[in-house]
Amino acid sequence: MKRIAVLASGRGSNFQAVLDALARGEIQAKCVGLITDNPKAYAITRAREAGVEVTVLDYHAYPSKDAYEADLLAAMQACEADLFVLAGYMRIVGEAIVEAFAGRMINIHPALLPSFPGLHAQRQAVEYGVKVAGCTVHFVDAGTDSGPIIIQRCVPVLEDDDEDSLAERIIVEEHRALPEAVALFCEDRIEIDGRCVRILPRA
Ligand code: GRF
Repeated sequence: MKRIAVLASGRGSNFQAVLDALARGEIQAKCVGLITDNPKAYAITRAREAGVEVTVLDYHAYPSKDAYEADLLAAMQACEADLFVLAGYMRIVGEAIVEAFAGRMINIHPALLPSFPGLHAQRQAVEYGVKVAGCTVHFVDAGTDSGPIIIQRCVPVLEDDDEDSLAERIIVEEHRALPEAVALFCEDRIEIDGRCVRILPRA
């Protein structure tokens, strides 16, 4: 059985969606750890309730990003996970970590990439005036939200939407897309071919 570990910075509703899918047997894996950069993250409570080991690396207690990332790399290696899931992890992952876990680290982003990478994706979508928005699960590479795309799900943008109402519609789809991508990975059904991801049929 595959081992997965999750990185989260806040509320952790995407992490919860993965935990729920694991509990329902929709993902064949064991969640072996939650790593967070934020000691106040509600994701910590969710992990403890599910019996998942928690590692807190308080970003602001470190003298530099390099020092933080060195400990993060060590914590990730200690998990011995097959897959690392960035579920609302609000920091850009440094080069050493990207290289160490290439093809084994995925992220959920609340926009239809390559549109609106980075922070406040839903606000970017509303301000740009797009009519369709959504979410993307993708592999993490050295860029910002730029790696090969595994799954996208879309929602309409309504006339009176603001950032919050659009975010509420998108997160429903995030909670479907992320567990689905994790399940595919754990079933060895994801093949990366350059920029593209092929989803293999069930064996
Ligand atoms: C989600 O919208 C995720 O896509 C983004 O940050 C939010 C985190 O929400 N990166 P949660 O912590 O999973 O509830």
